Amino acid sequence: MSIVTNFPLNEKSVEEFVRILLPEAIGKDIKGEVIYSENKILIKVEIDGKNATIEEENFESLIHDQSIIMLKGAILKAFNKNYSWGSLVGVRPTKMTRRFFQMGFTKERVVKLLNNMYLTSFEKIDLLMRVIETEERLLNKKAMNMYIGIPFCPSKCRYCSFASYEINSSLGRFYPKFVETLLDEIKLVGELSKEKKFNYESIYIGGGTPSILTANDTERVLKAIHEHIDLSNVKEFTFEAGREDAITREKLEILKKYCVDRVSLNPQTFKEETLKDLNRTFNREHFDEVYRDIKELQFILNMDIILGLPGENVYDILNTLEELKKYDIENLTVHSLAKKKGSILYHENFEESEVERLIVEGAINNLVKEKGMQPYYMYRQKNSLEWGENVGYSILGAESRFNIEMIEENQQTMGLGGGAISKSIHKDTEYNDQIERLVNPKDPALYIAEMRLRHNKKIKFFS
Ligand SMILES: C[S@@+](CC[C@H](N)C(=O)[O-])C[C@H]1O[C@@H](n2cnc3c(N)ncnc32)[C@H](O)[C@@H]1O
Ligand code: SF4
Repeated sequence: MSIVTNFPLNEKSVEEFVRILLPEAIGKDIKGEVIYSENKILIKVEIDGKNATIEEENFESLIHDQSIIMLKGAILKAFNKNYSWGSLVGVRPTKMTRRFFQMGFTKERVVKLLNNMYLTSFEKIDLLMRVIETEERLLNKKAMNMYIGIPFCPSKCRYCSFASYEINSSLGRFYPKFVETLLDEIKLVGELSKEKKFNYESIYIGGGTPSILTANDTERVLKAIHEHIDLSNVKEFTFEAGREDAITREKLEILKKYCVDRVSLNPQTFKEETLKDLNRTFNREHFDEVYRDIKELQFILNMDIILGLPGENVYDILNTLEELKKYDIENLTVHSLAKKKGSILYHENFEESEVERLIVEGAINNLVKEKGMQPYYMYRQKNSLEWGENVGYSILGAESRFNIEMIEENQQTMGLGGGAISKSIHKDTEYNDQIERLVNPKDPALYIAEMRLRHNKKIKFFS
């Protein structure tokens, strides 16, 4: 593939774009021309004998890569592609859109920009606007959040690439030492946080599957958090319980005792055959029992589902959405299956499921409307369904601040445990932050061996 343009661009980014969104154009030569007139930019594209143009007001003083964005849009146009997200791939669309507002664009102008330059549909633009409205109410740059990663699961789901290992695998033998190391890390982070007067607003224990911790270890970890971390400004405390096969009433009571107020119980799908194929055990009776316990103990409850799981057709998805109606939940997170390199599925060349977008979206909209929920955070992933997005819905007042802050990369994050990422955020240019990351090893043996060393790095990282 040759890319010839009369303006500078990063060819790799265009090649990656074509690889993901236009596989039929891989290897085709691209000619792009930018023409400036008074206050306008016109982009002309020629690819595989097809031509397209996009014209827009010149905003290059604010949007430095405007011609590249328009070039990508014009390539899609040349192939008559009507993707609902247009050329918005592998980005955080809400973060980008919020930046347009920070630059002083009016809502009307932002809508026009997204539709004309990125070819994003008005339906998706509406979703973005609704999410941003809620986010703006809750974002708080002055505070911090804390993430604790528990990198063990009862079994490894074939679609998953998260930092987690089967508890019964050879790495499972590190579990006891992992817990001891985590307790030490909580103490060290407590000292650092007191010294720096870090103000935590949300705490999230995720993974992996945190409910894999024994009841005794759950209590020890939560007790250590209460002992060493100043929780006086914490507005939400989440324990991503996740899998029904790891949760017990006893563990839920411990969570309650230590002020955890949000949990998740994730079906992913209610088709048990799919779950079995994906190496995920599931017992509907126990799931319902855990659900009743969660409601009785009055946690805010989230459920995760995934669209496009292998072997599932539109009726299976509609059935999962129908089943969800039976549960009184405050949050629902709808993921589109992403083909992640680190997952088992990625290497199995599985047959992708066709998901009929309009039918599924219509059913999701009806479900959340019935539950009185609004979309409150969203992100897209590379290699997920072409139209796909991950959207968190919530009833008013039960939105997770942690999820919003993570997606918007707005707050500093203190990461503890396996695979946890600490983030330090500094202002870079007027409308851009510079984000530095410090990653804890996800391999429990490495985490155990290096925790103290890494903590010393963390002290410098946050200084
Ligand atoms: C970090 S996982 C932890 C949740 C918990 N261990 C569980 O499985 O219930 C968070 C969520 O990411 C979603 N997820 C994981 N892998 C995915 C993939 N490849 N594509 C789309 N969603 C995925 C699932 O819905 C999962 O519940
Ligand atoms: S989806 Fe959850 S339970 Fe399954 S492997 Fe990933 S983290 Fe573990």
